[in-house]
Amino acid sequence: MLEQELRDCIKEIPDFPKPGISFKDITPILSNPALCHKCVEAMAEWAKRLNPDIIAGVESRGFMFGFALAQKLNIPFVPIRKPGKLPREVFSCSYDLEYGSATLELHKEDIKPDARVIVHDDLLATGGTVSAAIKLIESAGAEVIAAQFLVELSFLNGDTSFAQKLEKHSLVSY
Ligand code: PRP
Ligand code: MG
Repeated sequence: MLEQELRDCIKEIPDFPKPGISFKDITPILSNPALCHKCVEAMAEWAKRLNPDIIAGVESRGFMFGFALAQKLNIPFVPIRKPGKLPREVFSCSYDLEYGSATLELHKEDIKPDARVIVHDDLLATGGTVSAAIKLIESAGAEVIAAQFLVELSFLNGDTSFAQKLEKHSLVSY
């Protein structure tokens, strides 16, 4: 079963990046092309019935499977980036982290107002990142129809209120 294969492959690193946090390292998946293929197949199988126009992936780790998913579905991939990286006019959204804050940006021209968008990220933890990504896409007037993740940390009881208005999917949940 894919979920078990992913659990067996993802490495848990205690006390990284700081004491008390058990980091889920997804990079071993990237070294396993057959498993990557299964992940993209499973994400695409779930996503295709929603008829998305665009996959928007969040820098950095959301680029890896997000781009592969868009290719598999044969639809455009749009990057949501950390500040100061995108050269054209952007929408910007800041959000709170445990300590301090972060900002994400999206090229204004990349998403048309009537687009149906799936947001992709590797990980759902507190929900701050995906919520900011959703706000950005909504700034463009587009509709976010789903949020899709490789890994979800359900035990954190993060902010999943975004899932009240769109579908949420992850391949493995802790
Ligand atoms: C990680 C992860 C998600 C986000 C999830 O990214 O890749 O994007 O945190 O956390 P949240 O649900 O609590 O917001 P990070 O900001 O560490 O950057 P990276 O993807 O560039 O490694
Ligand atoms: Mg990230």
